[in-house]
Amino acid sequence: MKGVYFFMKRWTAILLACVFVMTLMAGCGGGDNEPVTTGEEIKIGAIFPLTGDVSTFGQSTLNSVMLATKEWNERGGIDGKMIKLVSEDDKNDPTESANAALKLINQDGVVALIGSVTSKCTLSVAPIAQQNGLPMITPTSTNEQVTEQGDFIFRSCFIDPFQGQVMAKFAWDELGAQKAAVLFDLSNDYTKGLAEAFQSAFTTLGGEIVASETYAFGDQDFNAQLTKIKGVEPDVLFLPDYYSTVGLIMKQARELGLEATFLGGDGWDSPELVPIAGDAAEGGYFSNHYSPESEDPVAVAFLQAYQAEYGAVPDALGSLAYDAAHLLFNAIDQADSTEPAAIRDALANTEGFHGVSGEYRFDENRNPIKSAAIITIKDGKQSFVGMVAP
Ligand code: PHE
Repeated sequence: MKGVYFFMKRWTAILLACVFVMTLMAGCGGGDNEPVTTGEEIKIGAIFPLTGDVSTFGQSTLNSVMLATKEWNERGGIDGKMIKLVSEDDKNDPTESANAALKLINQDGVVALIGSVTSKCTLSVAPIAQQNGLPMITPTSTNEQVTEQGDFIFRSCFIDPFQGQVMAKFAWDELGAQKAAVLFDLSNDYTKGLAEAFQSAFTTLGGEIVASETYAFGDQDFNAQLTKIKGVEPDVLFLPDYYSTVGLIMKQARELGLEATFLGGDGWDSPELVPIAGDAAEGGYFSNHYSPESEDPVAVAFLQAYQAEYGAVPDALGSLAYDAAHLLFNAIDQADSTEPAAIRDALANTEGFHGVSGEYRFDENRNPIKSAAIITIKDGKQSFVGMVAP
């Protein structure tokens, strides 16, 4: 038996060597389209909420990272090494996110992490990545504290102080709002940070915050807070949470006869918002990272590739995840190394990288400086209103 096994192994080795030499020859022989691969792999960990209360976020981010991986691998990977994605579901639960990060680092031996999606989960992964000296890029976590966890932590989205300001300015300048109310989840870093950013920007402009109400994660009944808010007659109601909760709030608010225009942030971005909120979502405005109506050639190419692969229009999360993956693969390529510090330095020095949402350059806190898109819900669909530069 042993002899046969050895024999097979030797023949397998010879066969592999032949394939390798033929591949190299194809590469040298002018067959420019034939990628040269070494048989080695670069393992990348992905942590996204594939199930749970924001599962549409996880699905579109993973789809986009898989698409970017496929594109690189079809071109021969990074320096001939195939990219191998190892993906984990954190269910939008910070404890699950931390466990996933430890597993990916200690068991799978990934060289970098992409994730997570929501700020509360990313804030639990970032200290682990930093302590292990592993580069990490979140596509979508906008809370300011995320990249403050250390010099290995990057993101491909703008931050909440900016989007809070964008919506406050939009309410004041474009909607002529004077009185604003805010309703948010006190336990969530994202909703709390964004609520604060909106309130401070709106007051600085001269507006008045007539109500600031809170609820707890998982609450389903918002009638008490909404009744109070209705009593102070705000022009706008800012709802900085994710689609599943925002949809419920919108519905209950309209049922109570509250007439304020609804405003929000990127957390609204899901094909599920309108099915949950129904007509109540109509006429609301939110800030986002990208619009499928963008005419930028990279955005158009991404939209077409995503549609061909998955038969759906990508959302903003998808566009950010696609950019995050390309930024990371590009940095590994530029670094010519999978050594964590080299990848980190290459990421920090990213130059001339044009992604779906434009040109990328990181500031000294590893945050990209980018414009926001304002989107409205019209006839049950997202409709692009305009871009706002920082
Ligand atoms: N910005 C959100 C957060 O930090 C996540 C998100 C991004 C949700 C983009 C939707 C769209 O938690």
